[in-house]
Amino acid sequence: MEDTMDQFDVVVIGGGPGGYVAAIRAAQLGFKTACIDEWKNAKGGPAPGGTCTNVGCIPSKALLQSSEHYEHALHHFGDHGITIKGASMDVAKMVARKDAVVKQNNDGILYLFKKNKVTFFHGRGAFAGAAKDGVYQIDVSDPSSTSIAAKQVIIATGSNARALPGVAFDEKLVLSNDGALSIGEAPKKLGVIGAGVIGLEMGSVWRRLGAEVTVLEGLPNFLGAVDEQIAKEAAKLFKKQGFAIHLGVKVGAVKTGKNDVTVEYTTADGKAETATFDKLIVSIGRVPNTTGLNADAAGVKLDERGFIVVDGDCKTSAPNVWAVGDVVRGPMLAHKAEEEGVAVAERMAGQHPHIDFNCIPWVIYTSPEIAWVGQTEQQLKAAGVAYKAGSFPFLANGRARALGSTDGLVKILADAKTDKVLGMHVIGPVASELIAEGVMAMEFGASSEDIARICHAHPTLSEATKEAALAVDKRTLNF
Ligand code: FAD
Ligand code: NAI
Repeated sequence: MEDTMDQFDVVVIGGGPGGYVAAIRAAQLGFKTACIDEWKNAKGGPAPGGTCTNVGCIPSKALLQSSEHYEHALHHFGDHGITIKGASMDVAKMVARKDAVVKQNNDGILYLFKKNKVTFFHGRGAFAGAAKDGVYQIDVSDPSSTSIAAKQVIIATGSNARALPGVAFDEKLVLSNDGALSIGEAPKKLGVIGAGVIGLEMGSVWRRLGAEVTVLEGLPNFLGAVDEQIAKEAAKLFKKQGFAIHLGVKVGAVKTGKNDVTVEYTTADGKAETATFDKLIVSIGRVPNTTGLNADAAGVKLDERGFIVVDGDCKTSAPNVWAVGDVVRGPMLAHKAEEEGVAVAERMAGQHPHIDFNCIPWVIYTSPEIAWVGQTEQQLKAAGVAYKAGSFPFLANGRARALGSTDGLVKILADAKTDKVLGMHVIGPVASELIAEGVMAMEFGASSEDIARICHAHPTLSEATKEAALAVDKRTLNF
């Protein structure tokens, strides 16, 4: 190892939500910290923020917002007495706005690095080998070319889209999340393989802009991880919006033509079908990024699916090497990655943070939104837990009526004996924000009565949460 190398207490490999937040927290705690990220913007410059910022959370929400405005202008403004003649969508402008939002976030992270004195390296980080005298050499390449030394390393290299076997993403006809966020004009016919989070969010964007969307899902149940009542409500609403959702299909050959793509599949009742689409989004889950990291040489073990093996504290098999976010077990969510990144930095500083995986919220940003935390009814039944359920429809909520968004409900599940909140499930307007109350309640071990006794402002959607809590005790006031 060269003596002239820059020496750091902590080097973070990967600048997504797991990595950049870990780097900031480590620097706040007094460690001399560097973060290496290889993402390049269209001009080849640095674009920290990872999948989340560049081709995930942020750009998808930007497009969801634009397309929702358009849908409202076309179909809902009339209810408010607003007439818009000749409303049209400039897809190129919508995509350019999305790119600008992404850039604001990239620049924001570079600013945060400066503010917190995190040294940023633009390039790919790789272990040179095992630690020598307790110090790892990390080589950085493309576009930077240097080597740095680290006492502690956090791997936060994230994930990328899983392709169907033998069907590579060309990002023109067969799209991963990357291509799905940059389609130049709304396809007439859009095929989506996988009725998961990406399929439903991206399907929503392009459906609102006029695409006929067909979703082919391998499993027999729709949104199997979601509370069954909520998933049933979602399926009903999405079908009403025009989504064609086929469950229990087996996808066969996928053939790309000049301007279209044909998918052969077998339906749940065994019928062979063929469908031709202008574009096909393949959203069947994601795989961890570890290629080029040279993890093996450093003694960092991977599991059979390629994830970095970590213990409950995010420690890997190599001394002083930690891993967080999508590249390790657990839900692939930006906020889970962030929590792990912060927790690792704090553990390095001798603190004892704790992450309760049962209190990590999930949100699907469709319309209406779907959000949940904790246990579903089917999980509680399977575990033999005695519970009480209370739900409240937005149809009976004054604010929802004023907004014109009355689809959906809030449901609270509480322990039958202790009344402790075990889960909260929402389908409805801004469910993404409402769920925070359920997370807070569960983190503090609150009972449904606690939520029911808290004063909620009127008129707000959050009153539906209070009413759902009242419903646990069968004493709703407005339904
Ligand atoms: P990533 O964000 O993947 O970041 C890893 C970074 O490391 C990348 O910049 C990568 O280029 C870099 N890297 C990899 N290897 C190296 C190396 N060897 N050297 C240097 N750099 C390297 N989650 C939510 O919570 N909410 C959402 O709304 C949401 N929406 C999503 C929408 C889409 C379309 C997609 C695809 C994902 C979405 N997610 C969402 C998931 C979320 O993006 C991920 O869970 C999150 O980005 C994981 O963070 P991470 O830091 O672990 O990895
Ligand atoms: P996903 O796991 O959400 O859904 C994949 C779906 O594809 C599943 O329903 C699965 O049964 C189905 N599937 C798998 N193989 C198939 C096959 N061969 N044929 C047909 N169906 C098949 O994965 P997705 O949508 O790719 O998203 C990846 C991850 O990114 C999510 O799990 C989530 O963690 C994250 N994400 C989070 C978002 C959010 O928080 N709002 C938004 C988008 C992504």
